[in-house]
Amino acid sequence: MRVLVACEFSGIVREAFARRGHDAVSCDLLDTEMPGRHHRGDVRGILHDGWDLMVAHPPCTHLAVSGARWFARKRLERAEALDFVQELMDAPIPRIAIENPVSIISSNIRKPDQIIQPWQFGHGETKATCLWLKGLPKLKPTDVVHGREPRVHHAPPSPDRWKARSRTFAGIAEAMAEQWGRPAPVLGTVLACTFGTSRLDGSARQS
Ligand SMILES: C[S@@+](CC[C@H](N)C(=O)[O-])C[C@H]1O[C@@H](n2cnc3c(N)ncnc32)[C@H](O)[C@@H]1O
Repeated sequence: MRVLVACEFSGIVREAFARRGHDAVSCDLLDTEMPGRHHRGDVRGILHDGWDLMVAHPPCTHLAVSGARWFARKRLERAEALDFVQELMDAPIPRIAIENPVSIISSNIRKPDQIIQPWQFGHGETKATCLWLKGLPKLKPTDVVHGREPRVHHAPPSPDRWKARSRTFAGIAEAMAEQWGRPAPVLGTVLACTFGTSRLDGSARQS
């Protein structure tokens, strides 16, 4: 499948799909941290390039519910951030997952289809992560663990702290690639399941 991982500098989701044989490309305004297929630039310029699946991680700076008290001063940034999310949701791609923390997307566009936690995917940490899905099933937990530390809670302040906080958890990336990287059922498969293969290849008539 042709997979676009939008707003990803880490390469973590891209490589999870690439390891499974997909034609996966990440896109970010920043360079990629991991060698691999990466488009540096505005993702809006490549949304129409014939992708089968997109996983998008739009910036949450102006969308987080925790920043609500600043909203009066940040109305324009908030409107632009919501427009960006809407454009990603409306992209002409059959399967789309948009990932964001608990945010004003829920009240301004629509509620998420699912809220996941890293501790459901092998990481002993908490970070409520919302998923807005189109053409994709909900992600099934793969490895529920006991730890419940808030993410990078103890990391000292630094200019790159936001990167540590925003990199996708490897366990979640693996689950996305494993569960969403399966091909969509095609008509032939549906017919074969319904009628049996002999009716499809004509062997029933020849015998
Ligand atoms: C919250 S971070 C997501 C990080 C991601 N989870 C990862 O593991 O790399 C949001 C990213 O969106 C990127 N970004 C913002 N606007 C963009 C645009 N128009 N096109 C592509 N990337 C964009 C930012 O540079 C930032 O790296």
